[in-house]
Amino acid sequence: MEIIIDYLPLFLKGAGYTLALSFCVVLLALPFGALMALMRLSNNKFLNGFSRGYVELIRGTPLLVQVYIVYFGLPMLGIVLPDFLTAVLAVTINSVAYICEIVRSGLQSIDKGQTEAARALGLSSNKTLVKVVIPQAIRNILPAIGNEFAVLIKETSIVSVLGIKDLMFASDTVRGATYTVFTPLLFTALIYFVMTFVISTLVHKFEHYLSRVD
Ligand code: ARG
Repeated sequence: MEIIIDYLPLFLKGAGYTLALSFCVVLLALPFGALMALMRLSNNKFLNGFSRGYVELIRGTPLLVQVYIVYFGLPMLGIVLPDFLTAVLAVTINSVAYICEIVRSGLQSIDKGQTEAARALGLSSNKTLVKVVIPQAIRNILPAIGNEFAVLIKETSIVSVLGIKDLMFASDTVRGATYTVFTPLLFTALIYFVMTFVISTLVHKFEHYLSRVD
């Protein structure tokens, strides 16, 4: 217990870092993921193939490996970024693929009849997408993006292997400094749980609100 009190500021700083990192990643990955989803649904073979390949590649390889590739690859290209930006970039590259799938399935969940009716009324295909399909799809997409945020809070623990000072790194630091294993780990798990629980509760409430508005 003493360990936790002594190192509380370090844990809290790490948790703040984890939250900031995850938040920046969803914010950044959302527009790119949405763009990827539109590419995936387009009739252009090149755009479609690119998006599909990207999603398969990212989902078919471990985040840990992707993070290392970005971390060691950027300096080889002459690009040196601060640690935080390296972590944001590496995890964003991963999250774009998952958000692409969220947005794609959200758009595809809207009944074809909606598009047909809009087109029959004379709307162009772009107008149909913007005025009819997207507004309805948002109700499915937004809660899933909230869940992606909660997933990222957990998954970003991987960047601690790069020495990036997130919550997991704080936990490792305390373990090394105090030669105690369980207390720091259990406390870390508790902080992760509180963060994801708060987010998933908010997402539930939001879903409930959306269904009432419906
Ligand atoms: N643990 C997964 C992996 O190693 C990462 C999943 C990332 N998920 C996400 N929704 N961004 O590949």
